[in-house]
Amino acid sequence: MTDSDPRRTYGDHVAVLQARAAEALARGGLDHLVIPSGRAHMQLFDDREYPFAVNPQFKAWVPLTRAPGSWIVVTPGERPKLVYLQPVDYWHVVPEAPSGAWTEHLEVVIVRTADAARSHLPRDPARCAVLGEPGSALGDMVPNNPRPVLDYLDYHRAYKTPYEVAMLRAASQLAVRGHRAAECAFRAGASEFGIHLAYCQAVGQDAAELPYGNIVALDTHGAVLHYTGQQRVAPAPARSFLIDAGASHSGYASDITRSHAADTGSEFQALIDAVDIAQQAMCLQVRAGRDYRQLHLDAHLALAGVLREFGVLRMSAEAAVATGVSSAFFPHGLGHGIGLQVHDVGGFMASDTGGTIDRPDGHPHLRLTRVLEAGMVVTIEPGIYFIDMLLEPLRRCAVADGIDWDRVAAFLPYGGIRIEDDVVCTEDAPVNLTREAFAAA
Ligand code: GLY
Ligand code: MN
Ligand code: MN
Repeated sequence: MTDSDPRRTYGDHVAVLQARAAEALARGGLDHLVIPSGRAHMQLFDDREYPFAVNPQFKAWVPLTRAPGSWIVVTPGERPKLVYLQPVDYWHVVPEAPSGAWTEHLEVVIVRTADAARSHLPRDPARCAVLGEPGSALGDMVPNNPRPVLDYLDYHRAYKTPYEVAMLRAASQLAVRGHRAAECAFRAGASEFGIHLAYCQAVGQDAAELPYGNIVALDTHGAVLHYTGQQRVAPAPARSFLIDAGASHSGYASDITRSHAADTGSEFQALIDAVDIAQQAMCLQVRAGRDYRQLHLDAHLALAGVLREFGVLRMSAEAAVATGVSSAFFPHGLGHGIGLQVHDVGGFMASDTGGTIDRPDGHPHLRLTRVLEAGMVVTIEPGIYFIDMLLEPLRRCAVADGIDWDRVAAFLPYGGIRIEDDVVCTEDAPVNLTREAFAAA
């Protein structure tokens, strides 16, 4: 076994979760943590199911994402129990029995019907913190989601165990395979849909398995922050390509964005390169003790500096930030925590008893306001976009003279640029899981 051997790191991970569960239950005055994996959701007036999305509180404990009707039971001082539903069913693929070294760390009970799970759950629901959605209720075991328990778990989930960092690293490595295939497809003239398929093929995951819907944007579509149009026909020729796509590994997500110019000698490529240099400097700021809100504000200044360097802004970078002009070009947050969910929970929490750290005034889309500490994993995703509906109103403001509108017009057909990496905060230098994966690929 090595230091990164999942057999050891998973055992340590479960030990950390058990300690957190014990404290969370103490705060809630309860005895057991009970977590349903979730149920299938049916489409309205139809007999079709939506793709199953597992309860993140469940997959925190076990690397299982396709196990509807299963349960985790945690009682301090006892081995955690997995009650696993393996139904008798000839209509659907029956999930395989849990296997692998990780199962050594739990008591595993197999049940053949959803109702049979009840006898393996604690007898008295009043002594349980049941974390799940209402539809996961099993008889009298009804999700109650006690706030003190959830607050404690959500707050501490920001600090990843070494096992979790290994899972996130693997998720980045998978996504990088897809990103390389996607760039090849773009350079070969594929449509957005074709690039998406090339990505899925290389990652080995379909759309429902990916941690979020792929953003595959050619030309001006890059200016739609969460573009998911997936046009079937490629513009001929495409000028630019923005892809924001991740991968899942054992329930953990990666979230990676890259931007490309068709003409690598173009000014747009130079702008991508400038954003890339700025982004790498931002990633180096992922250090214990740094306030993520300040990183976000610093990013505005750096990106406004790039816009000035490229002649898009005539005003100083400081003036662009002070007047809100930088927000027209960079209208989203610098990033967010990442882990079991691509936008991990607890980004605004002031403490493990709740409370909120507000976003800075004028920055309504920032998703993380906490001070960084070792173990946190965050994305760093600055961007520069040319978005008509945000820029147009500036033409009628006092700041209009501070913008070179001919330069804006020259860049508008390229849509936008975003570069996004997943970065681990440590006691020392940050570990950039995404750059590491690209370098190794
Ligand atoms: N892929 C969504 C985001 O970057 O936050
Ligand atoms: Mn992101
Ligand atoms: Mn992203």
